[in-house]
Amino acid sequence: MQLKDLEIENFRNFLDLKVIFGNGINIISGMNGEGKTSILEAIYYLTLTKSFRTSNDTHAISYQKEHFNILGRFSSEKLTNTNIRLFSSEKEGKHLFVNKKEVKKFSDFIGTIPAVILTLEDLRLTFGGPQERRKFLDILISQVSPLYLQSLKIYRRTLQQRNALLSGGNKDAIEKQIAIWDGQLVEHGSQIILSRAAFIKFLNQNLTEHYNHISTRNDSIRVHYRSSLGDIAKTEDNTEIKAKFQKKLHLMFRYECERKSSVVGPHRDDIDFLKDDKNFKNFSSQGENKTLVIALKFLEWKYISRERNVKPILLLDDIFGELDEHRMHGLLDFLEDIGQAYITTTMHDKFKEHLASEKYILKDRKLYAA
Ligand SMILES: Nc1ncnc2c1ncn2[C@@H]1O[C@H](COP(=O)(O)OP(=O)(O)O)[C@@H](O)[C@H]1O
Ligand SMILES: [Mg+2]
Repeated sequence: MQLKDLEIENFRNFLDLKVIFGNGINIISGMNGEGKTSILEAIYYLTLTKSFRTSNDTHAISYQKEHFNILGRFSSEKLTNTNIRLFSSEKEGKHLFVNKKEVKKFSDFIGTIPAVILTLEDLRLTFGGPQERRKFLDILISQVSPLYLQSLKIYRRTLQQRNALLSGGNKDAIEKQIAIWDGQLVEHGSQIILSRAAFIKFLNQNLTEHYNHISTRNDSIRVHYRSSLGDIAKTEDNTEIKAKFQKKLHLMFRYECERKSSVVGPHRDDIDFLKDDKNFKNFSSQGENKTLVIALKFLEWKYISRERNVKPILLLDDIFGELDEHRMHGLLDFLEDIGQAYITTTMHDKFKEHLASEKYILKDRKLYAA
């Protein structure tokens, strides 16, 4: 998948910017605060309809402006010259257009232009809270499977309604009504778990090799999906997961009534990253952590690429300053067959000899060919 050209209006520090990009690796260098991350953010908006650094779209509208507009022309083997426009304003909300036709349900669009991003924030994936790891899985699998995104939407809605019942209803009302919500929760929750398990399986087949390629060591890396349903490691079949889910809900019913919230299901699950069976969260060095996150991101890219049969656009935001030489080389090796990528950096010189790429310098809100 390739972004051919990008036009942004009233977005962050750019009032008006038009750029034509190269089909391979695009390196955007510039000083701090010039707007490098904002350019990647604009691209990301066109792929996932949201930002990776704020959940409030109005933050991205340029100060003193009413709206932003992002326009991109994309091309792939299957999808030639597709124009995407995303408009957002406080008054009128967010609107998405594909070839000038408005797309009302954003979920129908997700996955059309797959993308993978790696920022310094992602280094928190291992030691941050479980919600960050769930978000990683959800964004990635949503781009692969429309069914997953659909299940996720219904699951979240059901969860809200079920929690409202648990916190507001008396015991009789809860006992009478809970079964309706349990049915939905189990139906869609098990679909979510099943899809996550498929990706975890893919990780376990490939992660050790990718990790060792970057670290040039010989460690054994494993990922374990820790489910609130109990041990599901050997469960690959949806009926079995549903049965476990239902059983666990039954077992936890009293506790959930006391807690007034739902504690069983994929919204409570987590993943453990293990090196020689020790959790990265507690035992890894910073360097090992970086290696793991880079390997994970590349496998995310590979998974989407395999499942959708299209190479996702890769966005790397200012991560090279944080990497030592051998990790940097490991990363550059991966970039060889990557399709289109965008790399931002403050260190223009560092890339000079490394990569065949289009180079740009960002200065005073303009992008110059370097
Ligand atoms: N809504 C906004 N309107 C105008 N400027 C903004 C807005 N949000 C952030 N900025 C500014 O945009 C500039 C570019 O930010 P950023 O893209 O993070 O730069 P870089 O990644 O190059 O360091 C910063 O100076 C920031 O303060
Ligand atoms: Mg930045």
